[in-house]
Amino acid sequence: MTIPNHLESFLPAMSSIAREAGALLLPYFHHGLKIEYKGDADLVTAADRASEVLIRQRLTQQFPSHDVLGEEQGLNDLGGEYRWYVDPLDGTTNFAHGYPVFAVSMAVEHRPSQKRVAGVVYDPTRDELFAAEFGKGAQLNGKAIHVSKVSQLKECLLATGFPSQKRHKNPNIHFYHQITLHTHGVRRPGSAALDLCNVACGRFDGFWEFNLNPWDTAAGALIVEEAGGKVSRFDGSPFELNSQETLASNGVVHEALVREFREIFAGRGIEPMADPRRHEG
Ligand code: IPD
Ligand code: CA
Ligand code: CA
Repeated sequence: MTIPNHLESFLPAMSSIAREAGALLLPYFHHGLKIEYKGDADLVTAADRASEVLIRQRLTQQFPSHDVLGEEQGLNDLGGEYRWYVDPLDGTTNFAHGYPVFAVSMAVEHRPSQKRVAGVVYDPTRDELFAAEFGKGAQLNGKAIHVSKVSQLKECLLATGFPSQKRHKNPNIHFYHQITLHTHGVRRPGSAALDLCNVACGRFDGFWEFNLNPWDTAAGALIVEEAGGKVSRFDGSPFELNSQETLASNGVVHEALVREFREIFAGRGIEPMADPRRHEG
């Protein structure tokens, strides 16, 4: 199945919608707002909802026959040839606490070929727009970006995230501990879409997370791949939007990361955690 070659039109339109949504978020961010709970520690604010309303209005005006799947309003399935994946505010917990690491994430998929054809992630606090089109490379504010060239796991800086739902069922702390001890370190910035973009532009050498949703990864994964990196499941098999496992890297260290994951899942070579009762400072 080939992708129709009239896609140049998507990136300018989606970039301008993402910028507009990012601009809408900033006053909410600076003036503070009420936190509501979707469950457990899963936060939502008026800003998440307003951003999605704006994005849907723009998409409906410009692409009336396209499906839209957004985090806050779910799927509007028109049986369209294209489907949009929208996270109107990725990093809500940061946003609600006044920590300036959050973004708007949008990607569009050609349904018949199941290919994501374009994606953008916009960070309004740094005015950074990451963008990619399938087969055409990735850019940050219009300049080509590439993944890092780091080839040794022990020299990598990585990022991960922890879910805000069913937290006690998530084993990631073991991966965090083990991989922290084998690398330069692991950051937990709190916006999966930006974490992926930071792999794409070489600030991080890799990123992983359990149980992400399609709207978290649709744009960022394409941006990593178009920047020369690799995205897979934890065992190295192909990544899909509903994989529930996201492992991204510069490609060079991908096999080493897959090996780490295999060992940790099998419980082999686990470094013991220091006992806090014996901590002497
Ligand atoms: C969250 C962020 C966070 C990740 C969570 C996501 P949200 O998205 O991407 O980094 O660790 O798993 O749910 O809820 O802020 O859109
Ligand atoms: Ca998200
Ligand atoms: Ca969100």
